[in-house]
Amino acid sequence: MKKIIIAIDGYSSCGKSTLAKQLASSLSYRFIDTGAMYRAVTLYMINNQIDIYNSDAVADALKNIHINFKLNTETQSQETILNGENIENEIRINPRVASIVSDVSAISEVRRFLVKQQQFMGNEKAIVMDGRDIGTVVFPDAELKLFITADPMIRAKRRFEELNEKGQHTTIEEVLANLQKRDHIDSTRADSPLKQATDSIVLDNSNMSRDEQFNWVMELVRKKLGSAAE
Ligand code: DC
Repeated sequence: MKKIIIAIDGYSSCGKSTLAKQLASSLSYRFIDTGAMYRAVTLYMINNQIDIYNSDAVADALKNIHINFKLNTETQSQETILNGENIENEIRINPRVASIVSDVSAISEVRRFLVKQQQFMGNEKAIVMDGRDIGTVVFPDAELKLFITADPMIRAKRRFEELNEKGQHTTIEEVLANLQKRDHIDSTRADSPLKQATDSIVLDNSNMSRDEQFNWVMELVRKKLGSAAE
């Protein structure tokens, strides 16, 4: 059977990674959460006190950044490794990462650096990648492109619960404000803004369970694989 590329884009905290993980695991495809890569770069900038508004300093810092992913065989989840260190938890719960990651992702040098690596990972297809510019910039020829959206308050509640489970105490209002701010920066930046690819399929999952969403998308995948098989 032919292998395809599945590109998933959409707003913050829409459950893109959850869906991407489910698809990758059922298809035995590779799963790449590109948001984790932008978060890893952001954490490096914070820890090394890099002035993100100084493009020379950013370009120099990028030379020292190596990101890869490792499968945790116990939990079957993917962990982000920055220069040999497992930073998976840190990039999800550190509020400083959440507050400046959109600014860091607006820097063209950072985007060029990460997009090149992402395109390389897709060389052999059989990949599910989620982010903001996957269907528009990283893989404009992806066989299946999804654009995920959901009501902001529903997204904020989901994210709030997730943070609470991880022991990060905050309020729904704070989470909502952060995700609206990120959506705004991500959709209005000059370089590769978040936007729907013209050939993407929109999915509003506000009133869908994870399983409903997965089954809905798997139908699309089956159709694509059917037409790609040959
Ligand atoms: O998906 P996430 O919330 O972990 O992403 C964190 C930030 O990274 C998000 O605010 C925008 C940025 N991002 C991006 O600009 N391009 C991508 N392909 C993925 C994420």
